[in-house]
Amino acid sequence: MSRRRIVTIDGPAGVGKSTVSRMTAVELGFTYLDTGAMYRTVGFYMSEQGVALDDRAGIAARIAEVEMELLPAADENSDTRVILCGRDVSGEIRTQEMSMVASQVSSIPAVRAFLTEMQRRYGEKENIVAEGRDMGTVVFPMAAWKFFLDASPEVRTRRRFDQLEERGDLVDFDNLLAQTLERDYQDSHRDIAPLVPAGDAVIISTDAVDAAGVTAQIINRVLGNSF
Ligand code: DC
Repeated sequence: MSRRRIVTIDGPAGVGKSTVSRMTAVELGFTYLDTGAMYRTVGFYMSEQGVALDDRAGIAARIAEVEMELLPAADENSDTRVILCGRDVSGEIRTQEMSMVASQVSSIPAVRAFLTEMQRRYGEKENIVAEGRDMGTVVFPMAAWKFFLDASPEVRTRRRFDQLEERGDLVDFDNLLAQTLERDYQDSHRDIAPLVPAGDAVIISTDAVDAAGVTAQIINRVLGNSF
C-alpha cells in the first residue's frame, strides 16, 4: 500500500470530521471513507437481531454475518449511504440512539478486527480520506497526512444538536451534552484503539473555525507537503 495516498482525520463526536473529510476528499479527488458509519451499521444489525450489546461473545460470534456496502453520498452535504445485507439503512444508523450503540460495540475486539480489515481493503484500492477515531493510530499508521480535530464538548454538542434537529431527531440539549461526554469517555478509555491523537498528527481546534476554514488548513498542509 502506498503511504502517499491516505489522509486520516480523527477526533471526538461532533467535532466536524464528516463535513471536513467530505470537503477535503472532494478537493483532492479522493474517496471519503466514513468508518463511523461502519460501527453504526454493526450496532444497528446486532440491536435488530436482538443480540444484547453487552454480550461480547455473542456479538463476536455473529460479526461475520454483517455484509455491508458503502456507497458515496448523493452530494457534498449528505452522508455516506450504507447497504446492510441488501437493505438501505442509511437513515436508521444516524440516530442519536445508534451513536451510543455504535460506541458500545466499538469496544469489542472482534468488531474492531473485522472493520479494521475492511477499512484497509478500501485503502489498498483507492486514494482515501479516512475519518474515524483510530485512522492515524491503528488502521493507517503509515498514512502520509494525519489530522486530529478537537473542540470543546459544548461546541460539539451544539453542532450535533443542530444536525439532529435538521433530521427531525429532537433531543434535549443537556441530555445530548451528557451523552457526548459519555461517548468521549467510552471512546477514549477502551482497551483497544482508544481515541487519542497519533504522535505525528497535526492537531486542529475547530472551536472558532468553520468547516471551510479547517478544510483549507488541511489542504494547505497536504499540497504543501506534496505528492
Ligand atoms: O463518528 P461517529 O459518530 O459516526 O462514530 C460512532 C461511534 O463509532 C463512535 O462513538 C465510536 C465508534 N468509532 C470507532 O470506535 N472507531 C472509528 N474509527 C469510528 C467510529
